[in-house]
Amino acid sequence: MKIIVGNWKMNGTRTELRKMLRKLGETQTKNRIILCPPFTMLGVKSDKIALGAQDVSAHDHGAFTGQISARMLREMGVKYAIIGHSECRKYHHDTNKIVHDKATTALSVGITPIICVGETMTECRTNKTAQVVSSGVLESVPQNLGPVIVAYEPRWAIGNNITPRAQEIASVHKLIAKTLAKMNMSGTPILYGGSVNTTNAAQIMSLANVDGVLVGGASLKSDTFIPIITSAR
Ligand code: PGA
Repeated sequence: MKIIVGNWKMNGTRTELRKMLRKLGETQTKNRIILCPPFTMLGVKSDKIALGAQDVSAHDHGAFTGQISARMLREMGVKYAIIGHSECRKYHHDTNKIVHDKATTALSVGITPIICVGETMTECRTNKTAQVVSSGVLESVPQNLGPVIVAYEPRWAIGNNITPRAQEIASVHKLIAKTLAKMNMSGTPILYGGSVNTTNAAQIMSLANVDGVLVGGASLKSDTFIPIITSAR
């Protein structure tokens, strides 16, 4: 069983979401599918497919204009939330500490955080990947407060049609698995994200310690998302 997460970012309409949910519902698979549309679409009825949010506030309630709390999401039936996505780290300046706080509030109401970590192109070129990824996990992932999912997303691979080599993905996933083991969190699922498509998904998901994928662009259309889901064995 693999975990396949679709991240719609700021795309789509309710009609498109309903259509996608219908097609996903008809897809024969043992894999767990989680679709994360924009906040305003989270109320769309979805019996078979779990819906997830793309972010959550670090606060429970109060004077935080524009933010949405974990409790509010839970009230809508949301079970998962992507937290610390590189676009939130980049545009909203989410640090590992903020990501940790957001994930903690999600866990406090029973939402499973999908916590993203990954290096920039400069960090990759200067051999800082291991350091950035291991400190990202140690500082962003709440230790043993409840089930979490970790996603390795090299920032330079997102929306770029390029991915690290299979060997590089495997070595970062091994490092994440080791780091989680040190935190007494062995068995935590580790996903890969960044330019996953119909051509590379099966190979990426066959790598050791890759428990699924986080898919952006290719999750917007059923023609590209469904083959990714069915390619995972
Ligand atoms: P991409 O995005 O698949 O379009 O590269 C992945 C992500 O941002 O989670």
